[in-house]
Amino acid sequence: MTALLEVSDLIKTYGTGEAATRVLRGLSLRLEAGEMAALLGPSGSGKSTLLTILGTLMKPTSGSYVMLGQDMIAADDRALTGFRNAHIGFVFQFHNLLPDFTALENVVFPTAVRDGRETPAARARGRDLLTRMGLAERIDFPTANLSGGQKQRVAVARALMNSPELVLADEPTGNLDRASAMQVMDLIGQINREEGTTFMISTHDEKIAAVCRRQIVVGDGVVTG
Ligand SMILES: Nc1ncnc2c1ncn2[C@@H]1O[C@H](COP(=O)(O)OP(=O)(O)OP(=O)(O)O)[C@@H](O)[C@H]1O
Ligand SMILES: [Mg+2]
Repeated sequence: MTALLEVSDLIKTYGTGEAATRVLRGLSLRLEAGEMAALLGPSGSGKSTLLTILGTLMKPTSGSYVMLGQDMIAADDRALTGFRNAHIGFVFQFHNLLPDFTALENVVFPTAVRDGRETPAARARGRDLLTRMGLAERIDFPTANLSGGQKQRVAVARALMNSPELVLADEPTGNLDRASAMQVMDLIGQINREEGTTFMISTHDEKIAAVCRRQIVVGDGVVTG
């Protein structure tokens, strides 16, 4: 398999002096293209920190990060913004949807921003993704009127809109009941198989982790399993 990304000896320290907290302590990790990986570890072990670094939203204190052959540490903010929009999708526990906008508008929004306008092709892809997420009947509903599970499926569709190679999901099913959580995971698994999209999903739920082909465990600032 080809490495989609590789990080080596990542160190991340928040704050300085007496208040300094070293969260990542030389963490190394390689993700192959097409993997579906769960990210596990106790609360405070640094899962969100790692996802934020992998998402190029924050730089580590030190260490190396190469994704798709490019040096993510040397890249400046402008380059990283472009790279992120093209190659990385995000799903968070609190989906951050715009409540007054419809499901379709929420999904198409990032692409419309990128392109400077909403194109018919983008709308068509948005409809297709929402249909695949089982939301064909809800495409034109304001997201304020959707259930938690439906909102989270809209957030997954939005993350997939620009066909990213990597989707980083931070406890995407954290506030869903078991059935909705499994439905979201099934759909993620389907996209992973059909489009080869790589997923890294942090969770505290062993059953959610078991759906993933690989489990990565973080503890004491490194990968422990
Ligand atoms: N901006 C910040 N400034 C200072 N400390 C921070 C900051 N963000 C996170 N931390 C600390 O870093 C540690 C790791 O936090 P992180 O959010 O990465 O953990 P996590 O594994 O995602 O936990 P959880 O499972 O509860 O979401 C925690 O001790 C946290 O308090
Ligand atoms: Mg977290």
